[in-house]
Amino acid sequence: MSQGIVEIVSGVEHKGAVDRRSVLSWLSGLALFGSGVISLVSDFVFIKPRATYGQPSRFSIGRPDAYPPGTRMAIDGRRVCVVRDGDQVAAISTTCTHLGCIVGVAETGFACPCHGSRFDQDGTVTGGPAPRSLPWFKVNLAPNGDLEVDANAEVSPGTYLTV
Ligand code: FES
Repeated sequence: MSQGIVEIVSGVEHKGAVDRRSVLSWLSGLALFGSGVISLVSDFVFIKPRATYGQPSRFSIGRPDAYPPGTRMAIDGRRVCVVRDGDQVAAISTTCTHLGCIVGVAETGFACPCHGSRFDQDGTVTGGPAPRSLPWFKVNLAPNGDLEVDANAEVSPGTYLTV
């Protein structure tokens, strides 16, 4: 009789221990699964290239014939204004030196729609909050005859390429 009670008590204790063990085992399995998922996700994030390819700083703007003498043509997608004076071509940045808005070509030069900065035909600040003149970029003639602008190469204002 007392042995039966011990077995019952032992059975109850044993059953409680199994429950605790199964809960702990389930939790540890969940933790293992979670760490595996995190590991896989971080592997995929690591494998995926993080390089972002923006616009190249050097780009073609087409043939010189596309810009007849007297042209002042803004290419907004490239943020430059191509200026042709006789047989000379130049590229002036259209990125406002205040906070980076794209300036528009105006009668007197350039005008920024954001905070009202004004620039003359050469990009020199004539009014507004812009701290600096619009930079001029180097223009080259590519081997295929196209004009190329290098937006990473600033040149002195008034530097033209003769075409
Ligand atoms: S961004 Fe051009 S004036 Fe502010």
